[in-house]
Amino acid sequence: MSEIMLFAGNSNTLLAKCIARNLNINLGKVNVSKFSDGEIRVEYLESIRGKNVFLLQSTCAPQNSNLMELLLLADAAQRELAHSVTAIVPYFGYARQDRRIATIRGPIATKLIADLLKVSGIDRVLTVNLHSDQSQGFFDIPIENLSGHLIFLKDAWCKKAYHNPDNFVVVSPDAGGITRARFFAQNLNSIDLIFVNKHRTKPNVLETSDIVGNIENRNCLLVDDIIDTGATLISAAKLLKENGAKKVFAYCVHPVLSTSAVDKIKHSLLDQLIVTDSISLSEEAKKCKKIKQLSIASILSEKILSITREKSLNLNLTQLNKPSEITIA
Ligand code: R5P
Repeated sequence: MSEIMLFAGNSNTLLAKCIARNLNINLGKVNVSKFSDGEIRVEYLESIRGKNVFLLQSTCAPQNSNLMELLLLADAAQRELAHSVTAIVPYFGYARQDRRIATIRGPIATKLIADLLKVSGIDRVLTVNLHSDQSQGFFDIPIENLSGHLIFLKDAWCKKAYHNPDNFVVVSPDAGGITRARFFAQNLNSIDLIFVNKHRTKPNVLETSDIVGNIENRNCLLVDDIIDTGATLISAAKLLKENGAKKVFAYCVHPVLSTSAVDKIKHSLLDQLIVTDSISLSEEAKKCKKIKQLSIASILSEKILSITREKSLNLNLTQLNKPSEITIA
């Protein structure tokens, strides 16, 4: 088995360090900096010849710079004759631009990024909760779409608020998220599945209208993949509370938290937002008492080991201490 070497771009070094610690290795030495004109400069500071190189980089903001760092790291790795180059992209930016909308003369950005990753020399991509499952079809190299939801389930199983099906319910903040919400409902004590009818008038502008299902006097758990401006979850929380919900909590994998999202969350009717470290939190977000971050380092470490040992990954209930059986979507 070739040796594992893990390197990180500048997007998420803390997560990379956690993974390295789990794997009992040192984070690889690499210099990812900028020339005076702003061009990105990459230099490996140790030999990677013949090694299984893993590059960890979320393509979150600053998206273009983070993406370019990843592409240059991959290009350098293949030129240095690494045995394999795997990109770990916990948050895959541009994944929401995955189709051409009839009224807009635009690109399919996700497909373009998939092609760029391949051309740069990446052999395999690992990502977490890619915005749409079918985007995997854009990739001509193997891609594995891991789920951060197990981390949330483990958290939920410890919370009393989610134990009584009479006063707890899982809610999807839009019709597109129903499959995700069903997974949570099946694995928690939520008998009903509720959804909010969300409608966008233009990008980042939202109108929520009605709730499908009964939430009166119940604690509501919203589940989503991305929180960006916060509009989806904040307006859903408001609507749920206005219609008689008790507490409103949310699990959301990717904390994009753009513009003034953190401030809006602080002043919203959302009682708690739990996210992962697929994207590092800003200082403002770290200070916000309503926001809690859980790590996906264990999932990514296990996956790296399973790849290098050529074994399938069996992340399951025993590792997560769930007393009864669950199904993993
Ligand atoms: C939409 O399809 C996604 O699943 C999220 O609901 C959306 O990206 C969240 O964006 P925002 O926080 O800006 O409403």
